[in-house]
Amino acid sequence: MKVLGILGSPRVGGNSDILLDQALAGAKDAGGEVEKIVLCKKKISGCLDCQKCNETGVCAVQDDMLEIHKKILEADAIIHSVPVYFWSMTAQMKAYLDRWCAFFDAEWRWHKAYRPKMKGKRIGLITVCGDPNVSTADPIVHSFKNTCQFTGLNLLGVVQASASTKGEVSKNEEIKRKAYDLGTISVTR
Ligand SMILES: Cc1cc2nc3c(=O)[nH]c(=O)nc-3n(C[C@H](O)[C@H](O)[C@H](O)COP(=O)(O)O)c2cc1C
Repeated sequence: MKVLGILGSPRVGGNSDILLDQALAGAKDAGGEVEKIVLCKKKISGCLDCQKCNETGVCAVQDDMLEIHKKILEADAIIHSVPVYFWSMTAQMKAYLDRWCAFFDAEWRWHKAYRPKMKGKRIGLITVCGDPNVSTADPIVHSFKNTCQFTGLNLLGVVQASASTKGEVSKNEEIKRKAYDLGTISVTR
């Protein structure tokens, strides 16, 4: 069982990173084969809406997302971890998500070749916001929930944390446990 972790924070070693590592530890302990991708270390441009992928199933933008597309296809589960920036997801996570376009045809259905690999793929989401009210991250949850509902991905669970300074979340045992459990179910469920 392959579990891919996607870090959408540019603050490596920060709160989203810590929680993603917890989730990946949960997945590994459950027998999963884990890999983490740090989006800010990759070159990922925004989607150009050139629609070439509608025909070919391959993105025309030649950057690191092409390699990530392959890893997405191969993964059984993908766990995303991202902080709130201005009531939304970070630019890195948004560029990554928009580039999922390459998997769809002109009618927003999975390309035939990808359908067996994508339908029902397990998705996890971890959000972190500085606001003590974790629902500040709800717009990100909304985006992932709708994407999963619309395309037939299997949203396993969402963990929403509040933390502000770098690494602050490591003091929160309860939320770390929730992230770990999300990783566990990405393999077992
Ligand atoms: C550019 C920027 C914008 C932010 N906007 C918000 C916001 O709208 N709401 C909020 O609650 N926190 C906001 N934050 C705080 C981060 O979500 C918070 O510090 C979080 O812990 C960062 O996670 P990380 O350590 O994984 O990078 C913002 C931080 C930055 C750098």
